[in-house]
Amino acid sequence: MNKRVESALNDQINKEAVSSQYYLAMASWAECNGLNGTAKFMYTHSDEERFHMLKLIKFVNERGGEAIIGSIEKAPTSFKDLESVFEKLLAHEIKVTESINNIVDVCLQEKDYTTHNFIQWYVSEQLEEEALARTILDKIKLIGGDKGGLYLFDRDLENASIDFSGGSSNEGQN
Ligand code: FEO
Repeated sequence: MNKRVESALNDQINKEAVSSQYYLAMASWAECNGLNGTAKFMYTHSDEERFHMLKLIKFVNERGGEAIIGSIEKAPTSFKDLESVFEKLLAHEIKVTESINNIVDVCLQEKDYTTHNFIQWYVSEQLEEEALARTILDKIKLIGGDKGGLYLFDRDLENASIDFSGGSSNEGQN
């Protein structure tokens, strides 16, 4: 496997691991703060990031490279409020999108069209994830400080079936 591509993919493996832990921390915080719908959403999202990581690990190893399972920083343990949680999620996903775009760039420079084809799944996934995060954040901003609204928002999130797999998504926000 091309070494520059391998290195970029290993970097991404680490980023997906960071994402998974980050959302796990958000899930745990939400659960401790009575936001069960948000907790469910974040636990599912965390699992999905682990899946993104595993998909990369398998691809690198199957193509004759070597996936590196590196260390990651401790995730934060507390968050200001719900809006701040989803703001951080969106900001994080925007950074992940930049990283995926960088891989596309490296693939083209190195003429690695197989990896370029593989990484397109992640390009679509990022589009979906950013859109979902923006939709949810818009709803939270509309609700503002209304506690009743936040309660209903969280309940809707608990009953929603969120599809993180790049397919159609039901944000469950009515
Ligand atoms: Fe693995 Fe949220 O991107």
